Amino acid sequence: MPQITINGRVCEFKPGQLILQVANGEGVQVPQYCYHDGLSVVASCRICLAEVWMPDKATGKLMPYMGGKLMPTCQTACMEGMVVYTESPKAVANQKAVMEYLLINHPLDCPVCDQAGECLLQDYSYEYGRGQSRFEETKVKNPKKDVGPNIYLYSDRCIMCTRCVRFTREVSGTSELCVSGRGNREEIDVFPGQPIDNELAGNVVDLCPVGALLDKDFLFAQRVWFLKSTPSIDGLTASGDNIFVEHNEGKVYRIKPRTNMAVNKWWITDEVRHGWKFVQREDRLSGARHKQFGVQLATEWARGISDAVEGLKAVSAKGKRIAVIVSPMLSCEDAYALAKAARAIDDRAFLAMGPIPVQGQDKTFPPGKADGFKLYAEKCPNSRGVKRVLEAVSKSSPHGGYVASFEQIIAQLRSNEVGGVIITGNYPSNWITGALTQALEGKFVVALDTLPSELIDRADVVLPCVTWVEKAGCFENAKGLIQAFEQAIPAREGARSESQIGLDLYTQAKQGTGGQAPLANPAALRTEMGKLPGLEAFITSVALPVLPIEQAPAMEMVEL
Ligand code: SF4
Ligand code: FES
Repeated sequence: MPQITINGRVCEFKPGQLILQVANGEGVQVPQYCYHDGLSVVASCRICLAEVWMPDKATGKLMPYMGGKLMPTCQTACMEGMVVYTESPKAVANQKAVMEYLLINHPLDCPVCDQAGECLLQDYSYEYGRGQSRFEETKVKNPKKDVGPNIYLYSDRCIMCTRCVRFTREVSGTSELCVSGRGNREEIDVFPGQPIDNELAGNVVDLCPVGALLDKDFLFAQRVWFLKSTPSIDGLTASGDNIFVEHNEGKVYRIKPRTNMAVNKWWITDEVRHGWKFVQREDRLSGARHKQFGVQLATEWARGISDAVEGLKAVSAKGKRIAVIVSPMLSCEDAYALAKAARAIDDRAFLAMGPIPVQGQDKTFPPGKADGFKLYAEKCPNSRGVKRVLEAVSKSSPHGGYVASFEQIIAQLRSNEVGGVIITGNYPSNWITGALTQALEGKFVVALDTLPSELIDRADVVLPCVTWVEKAGCFENAKGLIQAFEQAIPAREGARSESQIGLDLYTQAKQGTGGQAPLANPAALRTEMGKLPGLEAFITSVALPVLPIEQAPAMEMVEL
């Protein structure tokens, strides 16, 4: 492979690669503001400029490239034998000049800026800046603007990198943002009456290298250095978007995209970014409940589990079948544990899918671009994974059977063949329909859910569950990719994962009250599942989350 040398380090490159791309890939630090892998190159910020030398074709002697002027590494293609210096006196002088220029009008409001701690201007000011301002005139003050339902623009922090403008033109295809004015009057703005409200709008906040574009939802909510990032997967739609759940002291504060070129590239939709709020609802279900003499009362978990199994076994003893309705919001491991438990209670148990929420149609960004970013109409993360698991369990058990759709199981419930149901939810909002409530009349109902509803009010046993950020597991996305996710925050008190409840029910059904259910371990469950025909992929093809590499801070940390 051809090679270039960057700051004394020999690096291989693919034809067409830019110097900055090679440096980023090799971990050679080069300052950069306007460059982003997912956007067109404009080379406008000028901080990545470097001294470049090329071997003379005739003599092989190194000669200054392009007459010796500094070259933007984000726009200059690599050539065999090129030698690049970003730490030479000439390059360093340019970095200092660019930093001084950018900071001329920049407010010194880091203590109240949400970006502080993850701001490239702060980092580069420390690494490449002068340390002292020579500017004595009055700074230009630009207004704060409300540019969209979820976004503020603090114009005086903007360094005019135009990443945000290019995003709305090239990725979302909506072009709400523009550059207005010229020179030191230049500003980012929206067109009058056209707020930035497209479904991908929140990505401009991630793209902004300084604190100019801010998420209203995260405004003054938390200092970023307190946040911990857990790699996870979109738990709300069929996209399987790779995300980081950012949290502190058991509370989620924001969701950020995690780069995966095979799935979501660098972006996520706003529904994934902002749709997690139900996780922190005050009225989340907590603590098992059971019915006694027609009244629902709080009970211990062990009693809730034994009541559920006894009630369902009593139904089976009367010659009726039970059904388990597995929500497509659950993980594959949850589906497996619950199906196994249902078949342990009644070996003819119906295995059925919960309702699959669909809103509108799939959309691509920019509109009409076949390989653009896709927003999925299916608003659940794992309908394919749940179906795959239920089908395999169903085929592998002696009584076989099929996996009923939600509509089919409602019809079965009405036919009176079914006398008891384990029903799961975990949807972000109320999902109970009149048809379901009617069909459940007269049945023994064990409800596993996160939020209160009329289903919970009428259930015979209620077993509260955790949301996807409070457990680990895997989802199969719309493209058939199985991806594992980690537990980000501790489980809500009095709630358990559906996998754990499945194991509890199974142990109770097999061993009675003396039995001790194992703790739900997604990896162990996947190993067990993978032995069933049709589920081998859970051993061989689960994409595990890539853990973020801990970076040593550039500044020395001081113990307080
Ligand atoms: S608002 Fe942020 S992303 Fe947009 S041009 Fe200014 S600094 Fe760049
Ligand atoms: S990153 Fe190269 S000019 Fe901005």
